[in-house]
Amino acid sequence: MECCCSSGTISSPLFSTFQGYSSPCGKGYSEKLLHPRKQCFRLSKPFLQLNGSLHPIDYRRASTHLPNKSYKGRIYAESKREPWDLGRFIKTLYFFNGPPSPEKILESLFTKLPGLAPSEPEKPMQPSGLVLVAGGTGGVGKRVVDVLRKKGYQVRVLVRNEEKARRLLGPDVDLVVGDITKESTLDPERFKGVRKIINAVSVIVGPKEGDTPDRAKYNQGIKFFEPEIKGDSPELVEYIGMKNLINAVKGSLGFRSGKILFGFEDNKYKELAWGALDDVVMGGVSQSSFQIDPTGGENGGPTGLFKGIVSTANNGGFTSIRTKNFSAPEDLSPYDGFELRLKGDGRRYKLIVRTSGEWDTVGYTAMFDTAAGQWQSIRLPFPVFKPIFRARTVPDAPPFNPANVMSFQLMFSKFESDGKLNPTFKEGAFELPVSSIRAYMAEPITPRFVHVGSAGVTRPDRPGLDLSKQPPAVRLNKELGYILTFKLKGEDLIRESGIPYTIVRPCALTEEPAGADLIFDQGDNITGKISREEVARICVAALNSPYACDKTFEVKSVVPFSETFTIDPENPPPEKDYNEYFKTLKDGITGKEALERQEQESPVAV
Ligand SMILES: NC(=O)c1ccc[n+]([C@@H]2O[C@H](COP(=O)([O-])OP(=O)(O)OC[C@H]3O[C@@H](n4cnc5c(N)ncnc54)[C@H](OP(=O)(O)O)[C@@H]3O)[C@@H](O)[C@H]2O)c1
Repeated sequence: MECCCSSGTISSPLFSTFQGYSSPCGKGYSEKLLHPRKQCFRLSKPFLQLNGSLHPIDYRRASTHLPNKSYKGRIYAESKREPWDLGRFIKTLYFFNGPPSPEKILESLFTKLPGLAPSEPEKPMQPSGLVLVAGGTGGVGKRVVDVLRKKGYQVRVLVRNEEKARRLLGPDVDLVVGDITKESTLDPERFKGVRKIINAVSVIVGPKEGDTPDRAKYNQGIKFFEPEIKGDSPELVEYIGMKNLINAVKGSLGFRSGKILFGFEDNKYKELAWGALDDVVMGGVSQSSFQIDPTGGENGGPTGLFKGIVSTANNGGFTSIRTKNFSAPEDLSPYDGFELRLKGDGRRYKLIVRTSGEWDTVGYTAMFDTAAGQWQSIRLPFPVFKPIFRARTVPDAPPFNPANVMSFQLMFSKFESDGKLNPTFKEGAFELPVSSIRAYMAEPITPRFVHVGSAGVTRPDRPGLDLSKQPPAVRLNKELGYILTFKLKGEDLIRESGIPYTIVRPCALTEEPAGADLIFDQGDNITGKISREEVARICVAALNSPYACDKTFEVKSVVPFSETFTIDPENPPPEKDYNEYFKTLKDGITGKEALERQEQESPVAV
């Protein structure tokens, strides 16, 4: 709340005047409000203040003049003052606090001095940068874990078998035990704090004749044995499992297009319970409202409308609308700021965001200027929100924590903070159409979901392929439970999820070291081999590359199958700058183009 008094607690006469009055807000409410002396108000000083000194309040109107069950009555607080509207004051209290305990609002309004720190300590910022590796016990996955750790990332690993994971990855590894085919094991709460994921989960393939405990035959290469699916089907792991995994992590990873928090978008309306919170709570007479204007938005569509009349009478000078607390805190950690879509009027407004459910706490506040008569998008990065309490900066408050957003307040005020005044302030009427508030991801956006897929996923149904030149999985797609078909369907789920992604499709995987020259390609045409170590490095590099974002590509080394690639372990080749490869990639190429062309040329009769 804005405070325009430099100090002051309320004098009890303001309330005692209304003893015996009936309230529209329920018996408990009226009893407490109207018999304040029975309550815990110990309000020693007069509330209203003029010219820096406190003045007692002088009532002109007896309570009996007020109509029953109505708060339209006004109090003439003192000479040369505007009449103050008690009805609006009570409505304000009632809207935000409801019947059970309005006295809490009164207490907090008047018993705390401006500038005091809030009662509830804020939670510290969540650690950022936690990377989840799914399938961290697999050939690629365990190397991904290793590369991430060496680069200093905070890593958590999703595994099916804890004992196996600790044996492979070390006793101290941070684990989430779960099975992506079992939705019940993937409660999104368990992934809070995860900012990125590298997914190397795969349906298990192995030789029909069996394998060693450490899967030596599988690791050597599918072309060297007759493969079969072990355990869960490709449909269950690659498609249903992918759906489960995406659902589990999407809230933590975030969406490229942001998260709508209020307003109108794509013919949908995300509602928030806004109520006016004007300087009436401090004795002023400004007033505002929030309405839905069905045709006042862009292109004649609907918009929210914050409008009002602001006055400096009675030492006032602000109007605002504030939402009730959200039913559950919004975790906006994947995002970088708030974006308001609004039609400006040349004035400077404030957006105040609270991260505590308590009424009277620090409001993280950002000011923004608007351009008169223009629909515009205002971006307010999270770091610009400063902790303010009653128009004063709270220097020792923690920074804004986007993981716990509880309410919004939009304000037009004469006051900025710490004694500064709003240079655009004008008394009188104003209107601010606000059609949406969203959390946004700042550019450049980097991938949040990096997936290890497979070259060949679009080939099983592709016309004109010489299958004898294709890898075993393409030739044996049907025998292997349509493994590639379901891998492609799983990829599609990622591409359609709205999460920024990279899909890396390696050719045949080997246990050779990283370091060979690489060929990146798109369109799903190449065959060859590539080291698992190299794939792991590519995945980790993709995490921070905007060039890799929303790209699907195949990769192999230049070394043919007939040659073994080795390095001098004493003098390994330097790690590549994978950005040079990522930069060559194009949007929208998946290899499905050939399938789609085929469908258009010979549509299936319905
Ligand atoms: N092999 C090749 O030549 C080749 C070629 C191109 C692409 N690829 C693809 O490259 C990717 C990585 O291959 P890779 O050799 O690293 O695979 P991998 O060694 O078989 O690893 C598979 C991983 O997935 C995990 N997993 C399986 N089902 C799971 C489930 N339901 N829930 C959670 N985790 C599960 C496994 O866990 P457990 O340890 O518990 O089994 C294991 O960690 C795969 O998608 C593969 O298809 C392979």
